[in-house]
Amino acid sequence: MKLLFATTNKGKLKEVRKVFSETAFTILSLSDFPEIPEIVEDGVTFAENAKIKAKTVYELFNIPTIADDSGLSVDQLNGEPGVFSARYAGENATDEANNKLLLKNLSHFAEPHLAKFVCSAVFYDGENYISAEDVMEGKIVHTGRGDNGFGYDPLFIADGFSVTNGELSLEEKNRISHRAKAFNRLHELICQKYKL
Ligand code: IMP
Repeated sequence: MKLLFATTNKGKLKEVRKVFSETAFTILSLSDFPEIPEIVEDGVTFAENAKIKAKTVYELFNIPTIADDSGLSVDQLNGEPGVFSARYAGENATDEANNKLLLKNLSHFAEPHLAKFVCSAVFYDGENYISAEDVMEGKIVHTGRGDNGFGYDPLFIADGFSVTNGELSLEEKNRISHRAKAFNRLHELICQKYKL
């Protein structure tokens, strides 16, 4: 069964393809469909934004769609950057700019900077929504390390680890990440619903 993953983020795509590898699903992404209109993510929760992405993309292509909305929530910043994680430093901000702003805003606070990644994953086939959400808890550190992953990964150390997410391999990150856990559950729920 083909599923269209409503993302152009190569980091996310790698992680989700890994979750769905060795299953009955082939994962396409928006990179396979150039010239998609911009999707306005104006929900106030991760779950709302994931639903908006899944519905919009399903209606464009009529292919069962999976989508996620995810981000970083930092305790000392009252949950920021939250749903604004991708555009914390402004529309089209780079990961570097977002990371720099995060460290600047945290410079007023004492360590540890407790934080969590959240991922809300949604499936939509034109009739049914199926949802799953999960988190990865940890802390933000001031010295970025590692070239793996994406986004805030070089600044995040998951609970129980001494290396940053940027230093974990894809396999290691997928054992603990918010996205892998949410999509593993979503995969189970889709299989149950369609008796696969
Ligand atoms: P989205 O595409 O609207 O879900 O934006 C998610 C943003 O949250 C990304 O651009 C990253 O800045 C951040 N983010 C989400 N998941 C991760 C992760 O696994 N590692 C690092 N950053 C992440």
